[in-house]
Amino acid sequence: MALSNMKLKIFILAALLVGIVFPATVLFALNSHSDKRALPMGCASCHKGHGMARTPMLPEARATFCFRCHGSEADVQQAKRKNFLGPEAGKADLRREFSKPFIHPLDEAGMHRPDEILPELDPSLPRHSACGDCHNHHFASKEKKLAGISGVDVNRIRVQQVQNEYEICFKCHGKSANLPGDQTDKSEEFTLSNPSYHPVLGPGKNQNMPSLISSLTPMSTIKCIDCHNNNDALGPRGPHGSVYRHLISRNYSESDGPEGAFQYALCYGCHRRTSILGNESFPLHRLHIVEKGASCKTCHDSHGSSINTHLIEFDTFIVRPNKSGRLQFIDVGPRAGQCFLSCHGRDHNPETYPGAFPMPTRKTDPRKRLRW
Ligand code: HEC
Ligand code: HEC
Ligand code: HEC
Ligand code: HEC
Ligand code: HEC
Ligand code: HEC
Ligand code: HEC
Repeated sequence: MALSNMKLKIFILAALLVGIVFPATVLFALNSHSDKRALPMGCASCHKGHGMARTPMLPEARATFCFRCHGSEADVQQAKRKNFLGPEAGKADLRREFSKPFIHPLDEAGMHRPDEILPELDPSLPRHSACGDCHNHHFASKEKKLAGISGVDVNRIRVQQVQNEYEICFKCHGKSANLPGDQTDKSEEFTLSNPSYHPVLGPGKNQNMPSLISSLTPMSTIKCIDCHNNNDALGPRGPHGSVYRHLISRNYSESDGPEGAFQYALCYGCHRRTSILGNESFPLHRLHIVEKGASCKTCHDSHGSSINTHLIEFDTFIVRPNKSGRLQFIDVGPRAGQCFLSCHGRDHNPETYPGAFPMPTRKTDPRKRLRW
C-alpha cells in the first residue's frame, strides 16, 4: 500500500477536520467518486499525505491528475495495482481524447481556482479550461456528470449550479472579457430574441422544417455537445477532443467544393441529405450545393443570426456586395426570399425564390432565371 498507516491516520483525521470546515466536502455524498467499490481507498484514492506543492494534497499536478483513473490502459492498470481503483472501474480514456489535434486545452499553468469567478472581467488574463471548470469531482455522478458546477444562465446571470449544459459554456464562450479576437459571444448568437438560431436555449423559430430526422421536431431543443463532441461515437462523451477542427463531432467542410455525405456529415446527422438536396425547403439548395459546390457555411451560420431568418449569414470571403453595393437577404414569406449579392461574379440584384412564380417545375426551372 502506498501510504503508511500513520500517514493514512493523519490524513483521514485532517480530511474529517477539513470536512467540518468546508461544508461542500461534507455534502460529498452518493456520486461516482464516493462509491467504495470503484474507489476502495475513498479520499485516499486521490489525496496523499504529502501531496505535491500548491495542490490540496494531490499526488501530481491538477492538469493531469484525473488521468490516473481516466487515462490509458496503463494508467488504469497502475491505479488498480495500487488499489486506488476497483477492479471493475475506470472505463473512459480521457488521456487519448486530450491528445487529439483539437481539444479543450489542459490547464498546464494551473490557472483554475475552485473559487474563481467567471466570466472573466480582466481582458489581459490568459484563458484556461481545466477538468474542474466543467466537472466537480465531489458531485459528478453517472447521471449528472456536470453536477455542482457554476455557470451563466439564459438571462446572462451567474448561477452556482447549472441546470443546462450550455450554462457552463457561457462562462468562457459568452460575454467573457478575454475572448480570443476571432471568437464571438455565444450567448448572443443563440439568444431567443434573434430572428433565427439553432434551438439550444429554447425551441427554434421555424415551424416548417421538412429536413429534420424523425427523432426531431421544430419543438426540439439540442445541446452544444450535439455538435461539439468526441468524433468517436463509441468513446467517452463530451467536448474533450476531436480529430475535427473546432472540436466538432462529425466532419463539416467550411469551404466550397464537391458535395458528399462526408462533406456535410455534421448537418446531415439532423437534416436529411435527401431532403436538402431534394429542394424540399429552399428550392435552390441542390443547384448551389451540388452543381456550384457551395458549402452550407457560404449561406448559413451554424449557431444563429441576429439579422436574418433561417440562419442566413453569408460568408463574406466568398459572397460580396452586388454592383449596387448591396449584400442582403430578405425573407418575403414562407419559403420565399430575395438575395442581393455577388458570388463568383454572378450579380444577384435581386434574385428571388420562388418569387411570384409557382414552385419550380421543369418549365419554371429557377436556373434559367438565375442566369448561371
Ligand atoms: C476523485 C478524486 C478525489 C477524491 C475521491 C476526493 N478528492 Fe478532494 N480533491 C480532489 C481534487 C482534484 C481537488 C482539487 C480541486 C481543485 O483544485 O479544483 C480536491 C480538493 C479537496 C479539498 C480542498 C477544497 C476544495 O473543496 O476544493 C478538500 C478539503 C478535499 N478535497 C477533501 C476531500 C475529502 C475529505 C475527501 C473524501 C471524503 C476527498 N476530498 C475525496 C480530488 C479528490
Ligand atoms: C482514483 C480514481 C479516480 C480519479 C483520480 C478520478 N476519478 Fe473520476 N471516476 C472514477 C470512477 C471509478 C468513476 C466511475 C465510472 C468509471 O468506472 O469510470 C468516475 C466517474 C467520473 C465522472 C462521471 C462519469 C460516470 O460515468 O460516472 C466524472 C465526470 C469524473 N469521474 C471526473 C473526474 C475528474 C474531473 C477527475 C479529476 C479531478 C477525476 N474524475 C479523478 C475514478 C476516478
Ligand atoms: C448545430 C451544430 C452546433 C451547435 C448546436 C453548436 N455549435 Fe459551435 N460550432 C459549430 C460549427 C460547425 C462550428 C465551426 C465553424 C462555424 O462557425 O461554422 C462551431 C464553432 C464554434 C466555436 C469556435 C468558433 C467561433 O465561432 O467562435 C465555439 C467556441 C463554439 N462553436 C461554441 C459553441 C457553444 C458554446 C455552443 C452551445 C451554446 C455551440 N457551439 C453549439 C456547430 C455547432
Ligand atoms: C469544457 C468542459 C469540459 C472539460 C474541460 C472537461 N469535460 Fe469532461 N465532460 C464534459 C461534458 C459536457 C461531458 C458529457 C456530459 C454528458 O454526457 O452529458 C463530459 C463527460 C466526461 C466524462 C464521462 C464520459 C463518458 O462518456 O462516460 C468523464 C469521465 C469526464 N468528462 C472527465 C473529464 C476529465 C478527466 C477532464 C479533464 C482532463 C474533463 N472531463 C474535462 C465537459 C468537460
Ligand atoms: C473555463 C473555460 C471554458 C469553459 C467552461 C468551456 N470552454 Fe470551450 N474553450 C475554452 C478555451 C480556453 C478554449 C481554447 C480556445 C479559446 O481560448 O477559446 C476553448 C475552445 C473551445 C472550442 C474550440 C474553439 C475553436 O476555435 O475551434 C469549442 C468548440 C468549445 N470550446 C466549446 C465549448 C463548449 C460546448 C463548452 C460547454 C460544454 C465549453 N467550450 C466550455 C474554455 C472553456
Ligand atoms: C443535433 C441536430 C442538429 C444538427 C447537427 C444541425 N441542426 Fe440545423 N436544426 C436542428 C433543429 C432541431 C432545427 C429546428 C429549429 C427550428 O425549428 O427553428 C434546425 C434548424 C436549422 C435551420 C433553419 C433555421 C430557421 O430558423 O429556419 C438551418 C438553416 C439549419 N438548421 C442548418 C444547419 C446546418 C448548416 C447544420 C450543419 C452545420 C446543422 N443545421 C446541423 C438540428 C440540428
Ligand atoms: C446558396 C445559399 C445556401 C446554401 C449553400 C445552403 N442553404 Fe440551406 N437554406 C438557404 C435558404 C435561403 C433557406 C431558406 C428557405 C426558406 O425561405 O424557407 C435555407 C433553408 C435551410 C434549412 C431549413 C429548412 C429545412 O428543413 O430544410 C435547412 C435545414 C438548411 N437550409 C440546411 C442546409 C444545409 C445542411 C446546407 C449544406 C449542405 C445548406 N442548407 C446550404 C440557403 C442555402
